[in-house]
Amino acid sequence: MADAGQAAKGPSRRRVLLKLSGEALMGEHEYGIDPEIVRGIAGQIAAAKSDGTEIAVVVGGGNIFRGLAASARGMDRSTGDYMGMLATVMNGLAIQDALEQAKCPTRVMSAIAMNEICEPYIRRRAERHLEKGRVVVMVAGTGNPYFTTDTAATLRAVEVHAQVILKATRVDGVYDADPETHPDARRYSQIGYTDLLSNRLQALDATAVSLAMDNEMPIVVFDMTVPGNITRAIAGERIGTLISGE
Ligand code: GTP
Repeated sequence: MADAGQAAKGPSRRRVLLKLSGEALMGEHEYGIDPEIVRGIAGQIAAAKSDGTEIAVVVGGGNIFRGLAASARGMDRSTGDYMGMLATVMNGLAIQDALEQAKCPTRVMSAIAMNEICEPYIRRRAERHLEKGRVVVMVAGTGNPYFTTDTAATLRAVEVHAQVILKATRVDGVYDADPETHPDARRYSQIGYTDLLSNRLQALDATAVSLAMDNEMPIVVFDMTVPGNITRAIAGERIGTLISGE
């Protein structure tokens, strides 16, 4: 009965879902995984965990393979997306390796069964790992093509009753226009889900935002290239842009 009550109430500790872009793992390179960068990320996660926060991680695969880009060049979209999901598994294993070198117990769980490499994603088991203080790295997206890693991150955050999604990117928040092409673009410190959707702002895809909105899951978009920002975001400091209800 205690278990059932706990599940209904949600976690007793602060629980966050950190979404890491695959591209962030390649650092200055054009492709692949930079071990130095991954070590830096792992160190920040390990530091943030010392206050007892439970941390789930969802990682993308764009540093290795992008299904959407491949489909634009003629590949079947589903095939491209499956290749992208496999890329996230490589990233997840690299993050696990770095986290465990930083003395942080970690479990990798995959939405696509590959039991020789990592555990299958089983929600209740993921929650137990989190309760036991393990970082849970969730890979292979949702296991389905046509869904982004942001959508996978939102789904997993809702499933494991995280309190917030921390979307770590290379931009320091949500802007009213693309800051790379519009130097006068302004950054929001906070924006509602519906404003994000109706203004077609590209920070997250619409499926992810709708799922977050329906489940009142706040999302913080922040710049992970600033040293210490991952630790700050996990600790709950107000950085970047908060996407939430109005
Ligand atoms: P507890 O049940 O809480 O003790 O969790 P645990 O993860 O320590 O125990 P378990 O015996 O389930 O796993 C021991 C190790 O095997 C961990 O590193 C798991 O990640 C790994 N492991 C568990 N299941 C699988 C699997 O299906 N495939 C692979 N490759 N590894 C697994």
